[in-house]
Amino acid sequence: MTISRHFVTEILRESIGDAELNADLNDTIRMLAKEDRAGRHWCKENGYQGYTSYASLDDLPQRATCFDQLVRILKPQVEAFAAHLQMDLRGKRLKLDNIWVNVLEPGGSHTGHIHPHCVLSGTYYVKVPDGASSLKFEDPRLPMMMSAPAPREEADEAHRRFVYVAPKVGEVLLWESWLRHEVTVNWAATSRISVSFNYRL
Ligand SMILES: [Fe+2]
Repeated sequence: MTISRHFVTEILRESIGDAELNADLNDTIRMLAKEDRAGRHWCKENGYQGYTSYASLDDLPQRATCFDQLVRILKPQVEAFAAHLQMDLRGKRLKLDNIWVNVLEPGGSHTGHIHPHCVLSGTYYVKVPDGASSLKFEDPRLPMMMSAPAPREEADEAHRRFVYVAPKVGEVLLWESWLRHEVTVNWAATSRISVSFNYRL
């Protein structure tokens, strides 16, 4: 019997950061959360439990060296992933579109979404306390499945409809921007801190 595999959905996971970078990022992000009044206002208006710079700051790599350092170590990962996915970039390179920080307080979450107008998206994890949210990815074929039976409870990861990734400090996750994902509830006693970003052509 021959069974072939097609239309794969892949997620890159790699440990790229060290304790020094994470300490720098942690301090800088805490400072931004204190000083960025427009960002705090946006979070309040939009029911974000914690702080994100998503809607207020678009210059993090120019603002602090630790973000610039992070972008430098992300670059080879992004390029390697695009190459692995066999993307025809027509001689162009993927460019950083935006990068923002997330401080998710206990009880906070981020409902399912995609990142439109981008090619690759990802998150780097700065602080992940015990019980902190996983990142939940959804099978992109889900809306077409109609009466397809759900996979058995013990089905292997490749055949499940949802995949939960519990990130570790210093890890980056990368995926294609159309892949729907959500941040599950943060059950940890303290905040979960991450840096998210998009790359485009
Ligand atoms: Fe996202």
